[in-house]
Amino acid sequence: MIDLSVRIKNLKFETPFLNASGVWCTTENEIDEILKSEAGGVVFKTMTLEKRVGNPEPRLYVTDDFSINSMGLPNLGVDYYCQIASKLKKYQKPLIASFAGFKEKEFYILAEKIDNTDFDGLEVNLSCPNLEGKGIFAYDLDLSFKILKNLKKITKKVIGVKLPPYNDRETIKKIAEKFLQLKIDFVTLINSYPLGAFIDTKNERLVIKPNQGIGGLGGRVLKPISLAQVILFHKFSQGKIDIIGVGGVETGDDVYQYILAGAKLVGVGTRLLKGPKIFSNLKKQLEKIFREKKINKIEDKLGQLKDY
Ligand SMILES: Cc1cc2nc3c(=O)[nH]c(=O)nc-3n(C[C@H](O)[C@H](O)[C@H](O)COP(=O)(O)O)c2cc1C
Repeated sequence: MIDLSVRIKNLKFETPFLNASGVWCTTENEIDEILKSEAGGVVFKTMTLEKRVGNPEPRLYVTDDFSINSMGLPNLGVDYYCQIASKLKKYQKPLIASFAGFKEKEFYILAEKIDNTDFDGLEVNLSCPNLEGKGIFAYDLDLSFKILKNLKKITKKVIGVKLPPYNDRETIKKIAEKFLQLKIDFVTLINSYPLGAFIDTKNERLVIKPNQGIGGLGGRVLKPISLAQVILFHKFSQGKIDIIGVGGVETGDDVYQYILAGAKLVGVGTRLLKGPKIFSNLKKQLEKIFREKKINKIEDKLGQLKDY
């Protein structure tokens, strides 16, 4: 019997597949469709204190190999998501609230609001690359650690952090060690690579408009970068912090790569732009791999990369 279920603390996910925040999770209808699919749970669109329309269009460009986006966090605001969470509880799948402040204090106000609702977990988005004139919180480690320490005092719910890619092992090590100390339950690795550009030579212009035409890079090209982050974080946290692997997930083989790297669950972003049917395909493909390799459950292979 193949069992694809996994747990993060007390939260049980019947399958290890989630949407990546921002894709197919902005409206109640979209979230409802994710919950009706083979996804094990749902991560909501990153919510902010106020509703936002986001950046001007065109702000998303997608090819088979990559996506570039500079959405600018268009969302319906924290109050809307808190209200629909109670309705969506009926699916009995974990509901994860992704949220981001523009200032430190906003993270605390958001967490207080979310803590009093039917959300099961929080994903603190410290890594949005697309806000005009704003930096990425997670590249300021001292501020990020301070925010997380305070958030831990505010919420008793399962808490995770969405991080951007880092370019050196030392930083990942420092973060993993600090997160162990702070008792962070999970990390989501990774958000889009912050600086991506593509030029349409016919029109001789960049394919998106906001932020000088430079946006977050996702899709297939992100997977090698993301896998390396997962492998290093898993190693430096001694496998004690659960990981949601995000970046270029399209097939069961991709999911299996993330499991071997040390990720318990995966999130699908760019590929999910085509619709939630991906989740039943991933399930079939991963089950086939498990059958062929005689694997019964994900934990048996988690982080089990062989040495040369
Ligand atoms: C259209 C779009 C919107 C996104 N919005 C968010 C968001 O609101 N919050 C977030 O944490 N990540 C957001 N992301 C990043 C994804 O969650 C994911 O980390 C990234 O796209 C890499 O995964 P992928 O290679 O499967 O696309 C967004 C990505 C896309 C393509």
